[in-house]
Amino acid sequence: MIFTTIREIRHHINEEKKKGRQIGLVPTMGYLHEGHLSLIRQAKERGNYVVLSIFVNPLQFGPNEDYARYPRDLKRDEKLADEAGVDAIFAPSVEEMYPEKSLTYVTVEKLSDTLCGLTRPGHFRGVATVVSKLFHIIEPDEAFFGQKDIQQVRIIEQMVTDLNFPIKVVRCPIIREEDGLAMSSRNVYLSPAERREAPILYKALRRAEKAFLNGEIDGNTLVHLVKEQIEQSPSAKIEYVRLVHLKTLDEVTKVTDPAILAVAVRFGTTRLIDNILLEPSQNLHYMHKHEGEHGGA
Ligand code: PAJ
Repeated sequence: MIFTTIREIRHHINEEKKKGRQIGLVPTMGYLHEGHLSLIRQAKERGNYVVLSIFVNPLQFGPNEDYARYPRDLKRDEKLADEAGVDAIFAPSVEEMYPEKSLTYVTVEKLSDTLCGLTRPGHFRGVATVVSKLFHIIEPDEAFFGQKDIQQVRIIEQMVTDLNFPIKVVRCPIIREEDGLAMSSRNVYLSPAERREAPILYKALRRAEKAFLNGEIDGNTLVHLVKEQIEQSPSAKIEYVRLVHLKTLDEVTKVTDPAILAVAVRFGTTRLIDNILLEPSQNLHYMHKHEGEHGGA
């Protein structure tokens, strides 16, 4: 079932809530791929009445970004959503979401100013604002976001805490193509040659992860391992490679808490992001130290 107006989807959700259904929201910009579908499946598995929102949000695109050419195919999305078990789709028009120029925005300070926020000013303000509108419209019990956009998830989690949204944010793992490239609606922009080179991102992250698992916890070394590998690729232009604290997104020099190794790389006009989580508890040295602390038991 597809709804395009706020009034209709609200009415429909209310009816489902009266029946005692728990509502799970999966916010997307459409052009669905396996990454999106994995969020839907997770929402379903947790027993939700699953609402999928499809809205290419102009507020989160910069003036020189790809808003106009962002891939759209509602018919295809409807079919995929249906197959994945979505219960209702909310696909509003821009006029429905922003009938007049908004004067109210949601800004999550600090977390929005780092990583992708540095080259995409206003992006996370646009994301936080539209997600908060969707939360008010749908009033879900749970909302599903991918680790692929780890900074986005952290910002939404912070917003939910700070503004007391009674919503559980569920973070879902990154879904990849067979060659390791993280799935993204933007992958269709890649030329065949760029597409062949793009898996270098994950390869580089894996290289650093391997070093980390073998005991390397130095931030500079881990970042260097990633950069060195990506620089092998002739068309890759690194925007950033950074190691940050999972919670604060502050740069870390040593992995002593869960940390994110994150990259943003341009292939021609296409900007790709990827990341991996480094957990100290999986690190060889940490494990040895831990064993020692517990008498080597
Ligand atoms: P979009 O890029 O369509 O992504 C929708 C959701 O799918 C996000 O939570 C994103 O992290 C997740 N996702 C994308 N690729 C994934 C992958 N390979 N594996 C797992 N999850 C993946 O992110 C947005 O839209 C927008 O910013 C939005 C939150 C909808 C606000 O407009």
